[in-house]
Amino acid sequence: MSYSLSVEEASVLASDVNNQVTAYGPASLSNLGPGFDALGLCISGLADAVSAWRTDRPGVSLEIDPKSPFQDIPVDASKNTAAIAAQAVLDQAGVSWGVSMRINKGIVPGSGVGSSAASAVAGAWAVNQLLDAPFEKRDLVEAVLTGEAAASGSRHGDNVLPALLGGLVLVSPTDPTSFRCLSLPRTLPIALIQPQVEVLTKEARAILPKLVSLRDAVCNAADLAFLLDAFQSGDWETVGKVMMQDRLVEPVRATLVPCYEGVKQAALESGAFGCALSGSGPAFFAVAGTEADAARVLDAMLEASKNAGVEATGTVTYAHESGVWHH
Ligand code: HSE
Repeated sequence: MSYSLSVEEASVLASDVNNQVTAYGPASLSNLGPGFDALGLCISGLADAVSAWRTDRPGVSLEIDPKSPFQDIPVDASKNTAAIAAQAVLDQAGVSWGVSMRINKGIVPGSGVGSSAASAVAGAWAVNQLLDAPFEKRDLVEAVLTGEAAASGSRHGDNVLPALLGGLVLVSPTDPTSFRCLSLPRTLPIALIQPQVEVLTKEARAILPKLVSLRDAVCNAADLAFLLDAFQSGDWETVGKVMMQDRLVEPVRATLVPCYEGVKQAALESGAFGCALSGSGPAFFAVAGTEADAARVLDAMLEASKNAGVEATGTVTYAHESGVWHH
C-alpha cells in the first residue's frame, strides 16, 4: 500500500520534502487467555500504514489518508499514537527538524487487535527510517510504549511490543520495558472475527475486580506457564485448551460481548482447539490445526455472531514473525 502525491500536493510540499517512507504496523492478539497484560502475538494480514516525510518545521503534523477505510481517529498530534511515538523517536535522536505524516488505518479502531499500537509502531518506524535507521527495533520500545499509553491510558506492552518486534512476546505488566521474544516452531493458523460492537478498553479494564482469590491467581499463573510451553513446543491443541482457562479477566468481559457464548461454542464445534477474546474484545480468535480448519472455523464463528444479532467481519490469519516493516 503506497501513497503517491498529486501534482498539486507535490508542488505545495516540494520545498520541504526530502524523502518519504511508508511503514506498516501489524495487528496483534493480546492476553491470549491467562496472559492479561503480559502476552501478545503479532499477526499477519492486517496493518496500519504511516507515510512520513521530513520537514524543516520542528514537530509532527499529520493527516488521515482520504483512502483510509477508517477516518475517525485523532489528527491532533498530541493525541494520535503514531504522532506521539514519532515525536518520541525524534526526541531520542535529538534532531531539530520535523515530520509530516499521512495515516491509512487498515485496522478497525477499538476492535481488540491492537489498532492504536499498530499506528504507534508504524509512526516510530517511519521516523527511524527517515533518520537513516540509527535505532534497532528494540531501541524503540520506550517510544512506542509512550504512543500506546496515550490511547489506552496505561503503559501495557502486550500489543505494542509484538507489533514492533513480531512473534510471541512475554512482557512484564509492571515494567513493559522488560520482555522476552519467544519463537514458535511452526505455522499457527488462526480464525479471527471482529464483531461490530463497541468495547472501550478503558471501560473493559474498569470493570475488572481489584482483588481475586488465591486459587484463581495460582491457576492463572500455572496456566500461563503451560501456555508458553505449549506455544514453544508447537502444541496448538494444548494452546487452544489452556487459552480458554483464564479465571480472572475474560469471564468478566464476556458480559460486554453479546455474541460471546455462541461464537465460542461454534468455534469449538467446528474444530477449533480453542477460542478466546483478543485483548479487551470484541475480537475473538480461534486456534486451528490447518488453514482449511481455520477457514471452516471462521465461517462458523461469523455465522454464530450473526445469529446472535451481531454483524462481524473476519479473516484467517497467522502468527507473524517479523513485526513492523517499511517500503
Ligand atoms: N491487555 C490489555 C487489556 C489489552 O486486556 O486490557 C488491550 O489493550
